[in-house]
Amino acid sequence: MSAQLQTAGRQGGGTLIEVENLQTHFTTPRGVVRAVDGVTFSLERGKALGVVGESGSGKTVLSRTIMGLVPRRGTHLGGAVRFEGQDILGRAPKDMRGVWGKEMAMIFQDPMTSLNPLMKIGRQIEEPLRNHLGMGRDDARATAKRLLTDVRIPEAERRLDQYPHELSGGMRQRVMIAIAMACGPTMLFADEPTTALDVTVQAQILDLINEQRRDRNMSVILVTHDLGVVAGHTDEIAVMYGGKLVEKAPTRRLFAAMKMPYTEALLQSIPKLDEPSHTRLATIPGRPPDLVNPPAGCRFAPRCPYAREKCLNEEPPLEQTSDDASHSFACWYPVGSPEYLDKRAEIDAQKVSVA
Ligand SMILES: Nc1ncnc2c1ncn2[C@@H]1O[C@H](COP(=O)(O)OP(=O)(O)OP(=O)(O)O)[C@@H](O)[C@H]1O
Ligand SMILES: [Mg+2]
Repeated sequence: MSAQLQTAGRQGGGTLIEVENLQTHFTTPRGVVRAVDGVTFSLERGKALGVVGESGSGKTVLSRTIMGLVPRRGTHLGGAVRFEGQDILGRAPKDMRGVWGKEMAMIFQDPMTSLNPLMKIGRQIEEPLRNHLGMGRDDARATAKRLLTDVRIPEAERRLDQYPHELSGGMRQRVMIAIAMACGPTMLFADEPTTALDVTVQAQILDLINEQRRDRNMSVILVTHDLGVVAGHTDEIAVMYGGKLVEKAPTRRLFAAMKMPYTEALLQSIPKLDEPSHTRLATIPGRPPDLVNPPAGCRFAPRCPYAREKCLNEEPPLEQTSDDASHSFACWYPVGSPEYLDKRAEIDAQKVSVA
């Protein structure tokens, strides 16, 4: 990593990441899996972007490709990932070492698989500090203690000498955040960081990530299949379907004026507060697209109740809405259009006649 990149200002706004026509295609015995297929977006410094979509829509592959963490053999990478102005896509791991941890950090869904069960918590936080920042033993220990305190772990000193299994799930996720924060990254990827936790602890962890983001002017990409999770914790939302970005808007705007019937269906799959907890999420009928042979037109068309002939044959481009340049979507007959409303009336009439 160049000196310029290392010392780039951490204050203020400006673009931190630009992803352009990104493609991650995996060669498999079944054919080429187009896991990420032409994704473009940018993210400002200090902002949080939620990436949502059903299972298999490409959220994890997208984040791992940006971080340079996808397997290289048999993988075709296309497009560009500019981080602080430099294209880092496809860099060799040895050239990414200065970026990982220090510039970009990641927290995963299950801290038990990311933490080393045989190593005390303290050592797991101190190692990156010593390796990346060259801290001595005492400094690293003191910093580790401060980091645990920052992520609201009580009795930090005692926790440093404990093993992961001695901590609750929520505490382990806090330790993961402390490790991710250790070297002061400018960019944090959080991939389903709360799915293993109960609802109250989930909210605490998301609040904690937000607090760290504000304190450090860090950018965050929060990956989840649950629109509810990102609602209060992101500035913008990107919706993925079948390896493509199909809608993107500031969070409030997305909830107030979503355009894609797929986004609408995702929203309907959020459990309601008045339903008993652990109610199974309503899923969208039909199966996600085959990423080896994706549908010719809109990838969601075969499952979309509002689809027409054109949707099955012609792929809609991702375009800005007419009244708001920050809101883009890819749909021929978006929510609220006359064609959508016609179909909606038909569907509602059918429901009434069935009942
Ligand atoms: N190394 C790989 N080789 C081949 N296919 C892969 C590989 N990694 C991921 N895929 C495929 O790419 C697609 C996208 O996977 P990805 O893990 O990004 O989905 P996701 O949106 O994160 O889903 P989830 O919500 O379940 O985590 C899936 O069809 C997956 O099977
Ligand atoms: Mg995933």
